[in-house]
Amino acid sequence: MATETKTATRTSQGNRSAGRGGDGRREGPRTNQPAPSAPPAAPKVLELPASISLRDLAARMNVSPINVIRELMQNGVMATINQQLDFDTAAIVASAFGWEAQPIPLVTESQAPELPATTTDSKAAPAITLRQRLLAKEQAENEGALKTRPPVVTVMGHVDHGKTSLLDAIRKTDVASTEAGGITQHIGAYMVEHQGRKITFLDTPGHEAFTAMRARGAQVTDIAVLVVAADDGVMPQTREAIAHARAAQVPIIVAVNKIDKPNARPEMVKKELSELGLVPDEWGGNTLFIPVSAKQRTGIEDLLEGILLVAESLDTIKANPNRAAVGTIIESQLSKSKGPIATVLVQNGTLHVGDAFVAGSTYGRVRAMFDFRGQSVKKAGPSMPVSITGLSEVPAAGDILEVVEDERTARALAMQNQTRLAKEREARRITNLEQLFALAQANKAQKMLFIVKADTQGSLQPLVEQLYKLNPPETAQNAEAVRLEVIYQGTGDVTESDVNLAIASGAVILGYEVGVDTAARRKAESNHVDIRLYDVIYNLIEDVEKALKGSLAPKIVEKVIGTAEVKQTFKIAKVGIVAGVRVTSGVAARNAKVRVRRGDQLVHTGTVASLKRLTEDVKEVRQGFECGLSIEGFQDFKPGDLLEFFVEEQTS
Ligand code: GTP
Ligand code: MG
Repeated sequence: MATETKTATRTSQGNRSAGRGGDGRREGPRTNQPAPSAPPAAPKVLELPASISLRDLAARMNVSPINVIRELMQNGVMATINQQLDFDTAAIVASAFGWEAQPIPLVTESQAPELPATTTDSKAAPAITLRQRLLAKEQAENEGALKTRPPVVTVMGHVDHGKTSLLDAIRKTDVASTEAGGITQHIGAYMVEHQGRKITFLDTPGHEAFTAMRARGAQVTDIAVLVVAADDGVMPQTREAIAHARAAQVPIIVAVNKIDKPNARPEMVKKELSELGLVPDEWGGNTLFIPVSAKQRTGIEDLLEGILLVAESLDTIKANPNRAAVGTIIESQLSKSKGPIATVLVQNGTLHVGDAFVAGSTYGRVRAMFDFRGQSVKKAGPSMPVSITGLSEVPAAGDILEVVEDERTARALAMQNQTRLAKEREARRITNLEQLFALAQANKAQKMLFIVKADTQGSLQPLVEQLYKLNPPETAQNAEAVRLEVIYQGTGDVTESDVNLAIASGAVILGYEVGVDTAARRKAESNHVDIRLYDVIYNLIEDVEKALKGSLAPKIVEKVIGTAEVKQTFKIAKVGIVAGVRVTSGVAARNAKVRVRRGDQLVHTGTVASLKRLTEDVKEVRQGFECGLSIEGFQDFKPGDLLEFFVEEQTS
């Protein structure tokens, strides 16, 4: 069971150095030689999209693509001229040429009409979400226009701990929604008001949906509410949810649910979560723990209060309502009567009925717009979820919607996106051990991230401990050393949710005595996520250690395919000395390597240069036949020499 993906995840000899970076560096001291001149005191600013081809990057910097390739090689990345580089990689390269890279403003910005469509989408660079880019851009341009917006909250937690009940309770607690007759429409999100301030809740509970969206480069959540049943405590998916929220750098508020139950032990929940780093504020930590009962609807007001408190402390919950809207599709469907319908969460600007927009590879014009109560609305500002009609096709959850000048532009952009998305899926960054190391090196302080799955808690714990021991001690000399971090650990088979987390965070999955479920395998394959399965802990540790030190090489084994004996030698004009040999076992092959033995002495190891039967070039010669053979860079054959033909194979 453990071997099948192992084979798949080893990189081939040919592109071994592509990811690893060890080779390039070892060849000599790193120089900044390709940089045309010393970087100026104040670096020039280069705006880069989430993904750019090497060729385009070189053109933008006005340098030869060769120099860019060389620079990447020195960072341990083998790249071709047409290769797509993600923002992080491009930024590193740019800095070597004296440029300071900045995420590009969006394509449809009127001030940047010439920008390619690549910029509407951040899928290739999960590290920079749309939300972060929008905010950075707004901040840079017109700080003054930024207004506080409602926080967007996702509810996560273990099965049956009460996520759905809590979302229901919150919805019903809200006066505004009950006043409307309680006919709330399911559109994937709803808003409530607490003391005159709004909060948006995403309706799909659970971290899977959350991370699936993140894996696509979208992030809509500002705050995670972690529901933990007071009678059950921390369970596997509680841990998972914490890991997912942390990986997304989303603050967590704990809702200690079911406190109405006689066997509720809220103190136990606090203790268990403290051990995972979520320390209650009353214990000197900085996590809010709110006791609630979703069933009796108690503590809900406190929870809302807590959310607003945390929201206030974040300076990222801002947007500019006075501009064209940008948002993320959080749900979509095909309605028989209305055609494609999508719920969009507006993240910046205001969306109006009549606006032309592009959303991934679909486009349209907002024909009608409804809020979560099913009421028709004319406009929707930041953090407001609305369902819209007027789409050309059904967009995918995670697609980014962007208002553009007119429908023609929208259509053109959608078509561009269509081809680009297909290409991007191909070129998506490969998350494997080797590349991870190269990236970690290139980014200096960056870490190698791992997700660890094991069969039992008993083997998981020591495994993770051993992994952390591989980290170099935190001394000044080691300040730039690559370190590893286990962002999630759990028991059981590798699931789709693990793979999504790996995609969203750029992590490698390590499995010990576990399998991979079908959905996970499919997803991992199409997204080039490295899943490494082991049944010997030592091997797992050893691989990670090698990766950490940048010396991970695929295991190469030799396979002897044949032997031959040299009968005589000939001198041939222009070619030199050729051996006349008789194949004594197996085959002699032209693409094989060959060792020359004389008695018990190894005279030479090299590659077959030519193989001839009579005057004809042949691929191989079988046992019992004679042939003429030359070896690259070797002429010193003697009759009686033994030749051993071998090939190198990678093993799993
Ligand atoms: P999944 O969607 O299956 O992951 O579960 P969930 O987390 O959404 O839990 P759900 O809201 O479906 O609640 C699970 C069970 O716990 C139901 O039987 C609820 O009635 C019960 N429950 C939820 N909240 C409370 C509570 O505060 N007190 C009590 N006593 N029971 C609760
Ligand atoms: Mg539920």
